[in-house]
Amino acid sequence: MATMLRIGLVEDNPGDARLIQEMLREPPVTQFRLTLSTRVDELLESLDRDPIEVLLLDLGLPDSQGMDTFHRINDRVPGLPIVIFSGADDEQLASEAVSCGAQDYLVKGRINSFLLKRAIRYAMERKRTEEEIRTLNRDLEHRVAERTAQLVAVNKELEAFSYSVSHDLRAPLRHIEGYVGMLRRATEGILPENAERYLKTISSASVEMGQLIDDLLAFSRMSAEEMHEAPVDLSAVVDEALRGFQLATNTRKIEWKIGPLPRVIGDFAMLRQVFANLIDNAIKYTKGRELAKVEIGVAGVEDGRSIFFVRDNGAGFDMRYSHKLFGVFRRLHNAEEFEGTGIGLATTRRIIERHGGRTWAEGVVDEGATIYFTLRPAPAS
Ligand SMILES: Nc1ncnc2c1ncn2[C@@H]1O[C@H](COP(=O)(O)OP(=O)(O)OP(=O)(O)O)[C@@H](O)[C@H]1O
Ligand SMILES: [Mg+2]
Repeated sequence: MATMLRIGLVEDNPGDARLIQEMLREPPVTQFRLTLSTRVDELLESLDRDPIEVLLLDLGLPDSQGMDTFHRINDRVPGLPIVIFSGADDEQLASEAVSCGAQDYLVKGRINSFLLKRAIRYAMERKRTEEEIRTLNRDLEHRVAERTAQLVAVNKELEAFSYSVSHDLRAPLRHIEGYVGMLRRATEGILPENAERYLKTISSASVEMGQLIDDLLAFSRMSAEEMHEAPVDLSAVVDEALRGFQLATNTRKIEWKIGPLPRVIGDFAMLRQVFANLIDNAIKYTKGRELAKVEIGVAGVEDGRSIFFVRDNGAGFDMRYSHKLFGVFRRLHNAEEFEGTGIGLATTRRIIERHGGRTWAEGVVDEGATIYFTLRPAPAS
């Protein structure tokens, strides 16, 4: 080491202290300055005027014993690498100190100059690396927090944007619908047949656009809406969601299999929306089946969250496009075959994400689909 190394030594036994000094002086020569204290108080007092880079510490001292000795110093100067210097009979204590942050321990009577110098060098190097990692971590956390804040802000802005766009599009659309309607009535029987067809097409396109705008509006409202999280009985949620489909399904043959569902932490109304969307799809995409089978249940646990699923034996989908299912207005089936605008799963994903969970889908063409999502279970009451 090229520069003068400042070493502190806390040792109440003069013989041991002298031995250490002599070991340090042995070749190869290390430029060092040793500050000797016999008590913890003495060391702590001297640190301000006489800073050290590494400390050799005996745990049994007149004013302090055992781990307390280590903690008193480590709490005061957490950045200081400490090498414990122990008697053979408290080796256990020394290794405990290492697990609490001491860099190393040396057993008196079992060391030589080489081991001592190596322990000092390694202690300093390790401590420096530790500090570096800590700084990098802090820096990283800071940067993550900053980026997250930026993302949240951008997201908010985007949500506000899509809300106001969809909101503002409604008025001109109403004008188009209104005037096309008036035009059709005013020109009934006068216009050539193809012109009437054009008007009819404009009219139904604007109705369709109205539906898209309404869906988008509902979707962005769902993102902005306040959440009321509480323990929720998912069986009750599913029952309520199912009630909305009684009329639509009384002409169908559907075999329901609804497993026992646990209580979760969530917003009742939002979770009802999740099941309504998934049940709606299960009913819709099984409409070609003589006997539709729909199953709702728990598929396991992931990161402390329960995995729920809604499965059907319907049209299914091609797994190559499974990442597209949850996008706004993304559809894998055309509207002639299965009606819809493609907002249901996007809303589902948004709700589950707001609950801190995730969503995914599995499907096989012509065999069926399963949609999965995770939620935090409610603590046992
Ligand atoms: N149970 C399912 N079986 C097969 N395909 C599905 C199923 N659920 C969703 N999909 C596919 O994912 C697409 C997106 O689903 P999503 O619920 O978002 O829209 P949608 O049902 O078409 O319309 P909307 O829900 O807005 O009425 C669907 O168009 C369909 O292609
Ligand atoms: Mg749907």
